[in-house]
Amino acid sequence: MIELQLKPTLYTYESCREFVDDLHLGKGDLIVTNEYIYEPNFGNMDLDCAVIFQEKYGAGEPSDDMAEAMYRDMPKDVKRIIGIGGGTIMDLCKLFSLRKVSPILDLFDGITPLEKGKELILIPTTCGTGSEVTNVSVMALISRNTKKGIADDVLYADKAVLITQLLKTLPFKVFATSSIDALVHAVESALSPHSGPSFRLFSYHAIDLILRGYMKMREEGPEARIPIMKDFLLASNWAGIAFSIPGCAAVHAMSYPLGAKYHVPHGESNYAIFTGVMNCYMSIKSDGEIARLNQFIANILGCRPADVYTELENLLNTILPKKALHEYGVKQEELAEFADSVMKNQGRLMAHNFVELDYDKVYSIYKSLY
Ligand SMILES: NC(=O)c1ccc[n+]([C@@H]2O[C@H](COP(=O)([O-])OP(=O)(O)OC[C@H]3O[C@@H](n4cnc5c(N)ncnc54)[C@H](O)[C@@H]3O)[C@@H](O)[C@H]2O)c1
Ligand SMILES: [Fe+2]
Repeated sequence: MIELQLKPTLYTYESCREFVDDLHLGKGDLIVTNEYIYEPNFGNMDLDCAVIFQEKYGAGEPSDDMAEAMYRDMPKDVKRIIGIGGGTIMDLCKLFSLRKVSPILDLFDGITPLEKGKELILIPTTCGTGSEVTNVSVMALISRNTKKGIADDVLYADKAVLITQLLKTLPFKVFATSSIDALVHAVESALSPHSGPSFRLFSYHAIDLILRGYMKMREEGPEARIPIMKDFLLASNWAGIAFSIPGCAAVHAMSYPLGAKYHVPHGESNYAIFTGVMNCYMSIKSDGEIARLNQFIANILGCRPADVYTELENLLNTILPKKALHEYGVKQEELAEFADSVMKNQGRLMAHNFVELDYDKVYSIYKSLY
């Protein structure tokens, strides 16, 4: 069993200028980002890099179609791919760094072997996915009506770079959904049977930073997040390290059909599923790591372990109100379809569940959240 692994070299900078100078950005580099991130942060630097803006290829989270269209337009003779954005951009860049990129569906179907083609530098501008330190790329597969991840060591970035300046423009809603995503990464990885004491250091520290940040915001208001944004950025990175090998599990697996069909942002769809899965785990096995986790969270929240999910939901609702599945437009008869899709397409994630969940359990979790 792998006790700990960190593939990319991790860099931190306060400002974009320090990053550009230190890593010598220029000819031979392709920056993949959004115009509203590039202009305020790099626009006046006169960089000699090629630049492509993702939002010109569609709104929302990444899909195989978006990846194909961007790849068609981008210069291919570059040495480094530099992805500056949220999980959307970083997951796209992982694919663009491969030797053979198109057809994208062949990568997901295992038809094209995954081989590294270019150096990859990933720089998060949200505080959620941890994609800069994971070997996963997640796309909506439009023709198949679901989201799917591929995981392979060639998808690791060579360098992961945290730049606090980039999070200054992060809108509150994206802060909320992405930081909840990071919290779910930390919780799911702590409970994974493939985690161990070293990875769990990162899980538990991430949970601590995120919950304490939320409590500060509950007391002082949403703006209290600004001076502690570096904590959230670090926490999301640690949560990424925490699940990089131990994996995410049922919360992510079950959120994918909802996210893909109803275009619910990734972190929000995770939150819609989160406590349903935790309550189901507790009904099957309430000792071991889950007891330790509940005690740890209860200590932070100042409540009894028995009340931990209620108190956690009370806190999370001050950041992002939880909705029932029907409020997203989900129809009752779709729950069986969702459960089927999870059992069929999400085996990679379901293998990391705290306890095994079969079709009936998955269906009953969806029902409890409806
Ligand atoms: N690869 C992994 O390990 C992994 C893990 C979790 C999630 N994901 C994937 O990541 C995606 C979600 O990523 P996300 O939550 O980071 O959101 P995102 O990348 O989709 O970004 C959300 C929105 O915020 C904007 N934005 C991002 N940073 C900004 C900034 N600093 N200032 C202004 N606007 C900004 C984006 O342009 C976009 O419109 C999903 O597709 C999910 O499946 C991947
Ligand atoms: Fe996630």
